[in-house]
Parts: sequence; C-alpha cells; structure tokens
Amino acid sequence: MQALRLGVNLDHLVAVREARHTPYPDLAEAITVSEQNGGDGITLHLREDRRHVQPQDMFLARRVARSTLNMEMAPTPGMVEMAVDVGPDFCCLVPERREELTTEGGLDVIAHGRRLREAIQRLTEVGIQVSLFIEPDPKVIDAVRELGAPLVELHTGTYCNLGEGEVHAELERIRTAARHAADIGLKVNAGHGLHAGNVGPVAAIPQIEELNIGHAIVARALITGLGEAVREMRAAMDASRKR
Ligand code: PXP
Repeated sequence: MQALRLGVNLDHLVAVREARHTPYPDLAEAITVSEQNGGDGITLHLREDRRHVQPQDMFLARRVARSTLNMEMAPTPGMVEMAVDVGPDFCCLVPERREELTTEGGLDVIAHGRRLREAIQRLTEVGIQVSLFIEPDPKVIDAVRELGAPLVELHTGTYCNLGEGEVHAELERIRTAARHAADIGLKVNAGHGLHAGNVGPVAAIPQIEELNIGHAIVARALITGLGEAVREMRAAMDASRKR
C-alpha cells in the first residue's frame, strides 16, 4: 500500500494571529515545523471573507514551503486568478458561505458544473492540480470526472459528527466512494473534522492518498506546546529579576 500523505492545514494557527493582528504565531515557522515533523504538504484556505488566511500568507507559504502547497478556495473567477498568481501545487475547490463556521458539506458539482469546469480549465492550464471537495457519493464522483478534475477530496465531516450507531454506515459510504473514484481513475484525498481519535478507520482506506487535517492539530498543539510556552515566559521574567 502506498504511503498516506498528511496535509497540515494551518488556518487556525493564522486565526490566532488575526484575533489580535500580532506578528505571531509566525506562519513561516509553523510551515517549517510542520514539514520537519512529518507533514507532507501545507494547506491554507483563503476565504472570501479573509477571516484567517490573507493573500500575503498564500504568497509567503509559496516561498517558504519545501513540501507541496494546497490552496483551498471557493471557485469564483477572482479566487481562480488569485490562485494563478500564487501558483500552489494543488487547488481544492470548496463551497463557501459567509456565515458558516467552517466548510459545510461538499460542492454541488451538478448545479455549478459550468463555473467549476471553467475554474478547472484555467487552473489546469497553468499547471495546478485541481481537487473538488465533495460528499462521498458515487454520482457526484462521476460528475467530477466529467468536469475534468483529476482529484477528489472526500468530505469526512459527517463521519466525524455521527455517534456509534450511524458511524459505520458513513464509513462504508466513504470506503465505497474511495473505491469508485479510484476505479474511474481519480486520485482520492479526504478530510474535515479528523482528529487522532477518529482518523484510524479513514487512514486505513487504501485508495486514499492524502488526508488534510487542521483544527485538531492546531488545537492539540495548544496543549502539547503549552508547557514549553509557560517555561519560556517564566525564564524571560526570572531573567530580568536576576539582573
Ligand atoms: N479539507 C477541506 C476541503 C476543508 O475545507 C477543511 C477545513 O478548512 C479541511 C480539510 C480541514 O478540516 P479540519 O480543520 O476540520 O481538520
């Protein structure tokens, strides 16, 4: 079985910076730390409302990332031209609603076929591999192939939110979708809502090549890194009292 790639989504690290408009936490440093610790790629979602990632973050990530850069974005003409300027390795097209807390549901590939086809064509002609973020549904996967995208990202949000009783059926839906996508020649990624406690069964699906994970990694970093951060502050304070 091929190695499973981890795309580290750093949106929520940037959100901490944007909450105070401070220069920290430093995105460049975060990219390097992610790459030095097993991250195979960096993912950033440039939202239309710019609530976390800013355009200059995308350009900085392009300069700093030694791995691959995946830009998540709505499939609007403006965002497509922004992606052409940034030049990420991958673009993951997602549905976006201003009032949502995070990406809710996959793209309606059938209703927005024309807009998606134009976005896929423009991004592909400049060498960007396009992925469509979709529900794990074979009909939607067939529609993606018709549109000419080489890659799907299966939405795992429902799997992550369901309780014991229903989670197995949703996992089966993801397995079936992953098999179907691979059978018709599409590459398969997955993501949304995954954390160390629920990632196992999704990571075991052999057709999936990459998982994009963000919120849980940044949230966990706040706990695993808190001790070090308190020690650093303690040392900085104590040093000035000893002078
Ligand atoms: N994949 C896509 C397409 C997303 O929109 C997001 C959220 O930005 C993720 C993966 C990562 O989700 P999470 O932050 O819940 O890990």
